[in-house]
Amino acid sequence: MTTERIIGDNVQIECSRVHKFYEQRARQLGNDLSAVNLTGNPDVSQKRDALEKKTVLSLLNLKGSESVLEIGCGLGRFPEALYGRIRLYLGVDQSAEMIRIAHIRHRRHPEIRFQSLTAEEIAPGSLLHPPPFDLLLTMGLFVYLNDVAADALVRTMGMLAATECRIYVRETVSLIGRRLTLNNFFSQELGERYSAIYRTPEEYEAMFRKHLFPIGFTTESSDWLLTKELGARKETNQRFFLLSRKGRRESENGVLL
Ligand SMILES: C[S@@+](CC[C@H](N)C(=O)[O-])C[C@H]1O[C@@H](n2cnc3c(N)ncnc32)[C@H](O)[C@@H]1O
Repeated sequence: MTTERIIGDNVQIECSRVHKFYEQRARQLGNDLSAVNLTGNPDVSQKRDALEKKTVLSLLNLKGSESVLEIGCGLGRFPEALYGRIRLYLGVDQSAEMIRIAHIRHRRHPEIRFQSLTAEEIAPGSLLHPPPFDLLLTMGLFVYLNDVAADALVRTMGMLAATECRIYVRETVSLIGRRLTLNNFFSQELGERYSAIYRTPEEYEAMFRKHLFPIGFTTESSDWLLTKELGARKETNQRFFLLSRKGRRESENGVLL
């Protein structure tokens, strides 16, 4: 197996390693945010968390009636920002240990629920709360999905979306014009081997164009998230994409979009 840093080529990563990586981080670091945002600096972790919550809340202007699905929810970091602002939240993650911690973290909030499930297993019938959802969130998940699974997840998100719906996707993306893949690559910062696919923004946009635009979504907003102080690098930065569908309409040939 190649253990490399690959620029350009589409190389598959081993998802079972990602699973073990996060199980282990949850066991070692418990409730600590660095288990999910991978910085060794607690101050940076807190600031990133606060920045994302502030950014998303100001973009979304929630009404309080929303049903929310977060895919790859980790420790349940994000739903704290949703207390009192939504009707229900379901977070799913493949790491059973992450989900165990998330349950404890939000045990006093019955509207916030969690389920151990992989992105690949998500289907309308497999979720604790049935679709449709008014808001779908993924933050730092797509980098761990190979192309077939990433493409399938975007399609599934479209299937789970309510007539009026917003989809927020935030990922670390490549800034060098081609994707960068870490395939079981030794990271000095983490002190262990690590795998992730940093796609270009255009690769995400192509998946949205393929699966979400034909069913009525458009890109409402998209921007970079991190400053240098918070972890923007020469080759990568976090970018968010907010897509929305205002309601269904009929196409020229009468098909409901
Ligand atoms: C970087 S963490 C982000 C967690 C959370 N979204 C946050 O922002 O705090 C990535 C999460 O994705 C989960 N994950 C990775 N691959 C997954 C898959 N195929 N299905 C579901 N969850 C997955 C990991 O277990 C981990 O909790």
